[in-house]
Amino acid sequence: MRADRRDRASHGQAARSFGLGDAVLVAAVALAVAVGGIAQAAAAPAAAQSADAGKDAPAIAYPAGYALWTHIKSGLITSAHAAYPRFGGLHHVYGNAAALQGFRSGNYPDGAVLVYDLFETRDHGDGIIDQGPRRHIDVMVKDSRRFAATAGWGYAEFAAGQRNDRLKTAERDGCAACHATRRQHGDVFSEWANQAETAATGS
Ligand code: HEC
Repeated sequence: MRADRRDRASHGQAARSFGLGDAVLVAAVALAVAVGGIAQAAAAPAAAQSADAGKDAPAIAYPAGYALWTHIKSGLITSAHAAYPRFGGLHHVYGNAAALQGFRSGNYPDGAVLVYDLFETRDHGDGIIDQGPRRHIDVMVKDSRRFAATAGWGYAEFAAGQRNDRLKTAERDGCAACHATRRQHGDVFSEWANQAETAATGS
């Protein structure tokens, strides 16, 4: 079980041994590509849509101060993976206090927020790969009434430096569909790497 977790793909990481099974990985990658395709189509001039077309309520607020929350894990998606154009680079996952309750109990209470903080990488060419500029943050907010249609989670994405969710409905549905493959884990993929190290303080 432990090994499975370690090798699990993330936002479509390398296919070594995806704990959810190869079929799910293939489906997940297909989804990621589909979501990317939808984004491109929406951006094409031929679509003749305003920037806000396809957006739906309710809006999700920018999770101010998230970098002070608990670090859940980090991961790297390289250009070798199909999800790279959209999710590639170095990411750090953060959770607020309610999200930590979810990791402990398996039940994410309303108010839980998770952030996938994505950065470009900088290869110095001497064996050191560094964190580059931020690309965007992906956010999941638990509110079982507002987001009842997607297992209680609302999905949002904020471009670096932006405070407004840029997702369109189809993209949001893509987020939810892939995360739904983790239904037994409350639709959350990440495992809390340092959970054992929090035992001493009980925090
Ligand atoms: C193809 C599947 C897939 C799609 C589509 C997808 N995700 Fe994820 N997401 C993942 C995986 C896998 C991880 C785990 C990353 C890790 O383990 O480092 C993840 C992690 C996250 C996390 C951190 C919490 C968690 O579940 O681990 C957030 C927040 C998140 N995604 C938001 C989004 C948003 C917003 C979208 C839509 C723009 C989205 N995701 C689309 C697969 C997906």
